[in-house]
Amino acid sequence: EQQNRELRERLMQLKKERNAIILAHYYQRDEIQEVADFRGDSFLLAQKAAETDADTIVFCGVHFMGESAKILAPNKTVIIPDERAGCPMADMVNVDGLRKLKAQHPNAKVVTYINSSAEIKAETDICCTSANAVKVVNSVDSDEIIWVPDKNLGHYVQQKTDKKMIIWEGYCNTHDMLTVKDVEEMRAKYPNAQFVVHPECRPEVVALGDFVGSTTAIIKYCKESDCQEFIVGTEDGTGYQLRLDSPNKTFHFATKYLVCPNMKVNNLKKLVKCLETMQPQIYVPPHIADQARLSLERMLQVK
Ligand code: 13P
Ligand code: SF4
Repeated sequence: EQQNRELRERLMQLKKERNAIILAHYYQRDEIQEVADFRGDSFLLAQKAAETDADTIVFCGVHFMGESAKILAPNKTVIIPDERAGCPMADMVNVDGLRKLKAQHPNAKVVTYINSSAEIKAETDICCTSANAVKVVNSVDSDEIIWVPDKNLGHYVQQKTDKKMIIWEGYCNTHDMLTVKDVEEMRAKYPNAQFVVHPECRPEVVALGDFVGSTTAIIKYCKESDCQEFIVGTEDGTGYQLRLDSPNKTFHFATKYLVCPNMKVNNLKKLVKCLETMQPQIYVPPHIADQARLSLERMLQVK
């Protein structure tokens, strides 16, 4: 605790010197969320990156999030605590495969989940996050949609839109692990609890949800609901904001495996170090960034 206090003091000092803003995803360790200027889901953090007038953005999340920040704020320095924090789902789609699909469906528009590389975003008409996926798909002026990379979120959106979606087979290793059996066991144990679930979970698990939404939407729902007890079907870091916003309610994570190892690669020590050394920095080649920016800006404009 003494060491953490020293780290936090050093962090505050460096933040001032570098005119930096710290953005942290809800899946980050508590010690990082505690010191962040903004905590949020992928959508809110992309918005904050686009809007900030700080010189340096420290992005505590996974690599594609830092990349999106750099694309949206090309004149800022974007640093991350550890460049090994990647997202396996983002790596499940490649440019060649996407180009092939586009050639097979020349009239389709490409909607890409923000959990993707800058190169994939550069091949994309519009991006979305789990917070706005249905709205984004419905906003596109084509009846046919190529959807990459999350098949689970894709199936969820397909149920809510009349458009025909061609769905890539990617998935989140963490959310996809949750099974119907896990949820049924928890329901038997906590019969008064509502089940709140992220749409990155399997369709049959999402179907059991009393509420389905992005991490921000889940946190808001639990806060505003009359229910006092919840079974949570998303990553365990979300507990930090859930407990902060609803201190008198009870939250049971649906399994102990709802932990994203990539998100947990970052810690307070690495956060301080990256501000000290201003490394590792995110770099996106300008010709890729310029293309990718259009798809992210279109998403930010969808009301
Ligand atoms: P949201 O931030 O949109 O809830 O997505 C969750 C996620 O898996 C981010 O990697
Ligand atoms: Fe990727 Fe899933 Fe981790 Fe999010 S929780 S960063 S989608 S692996």
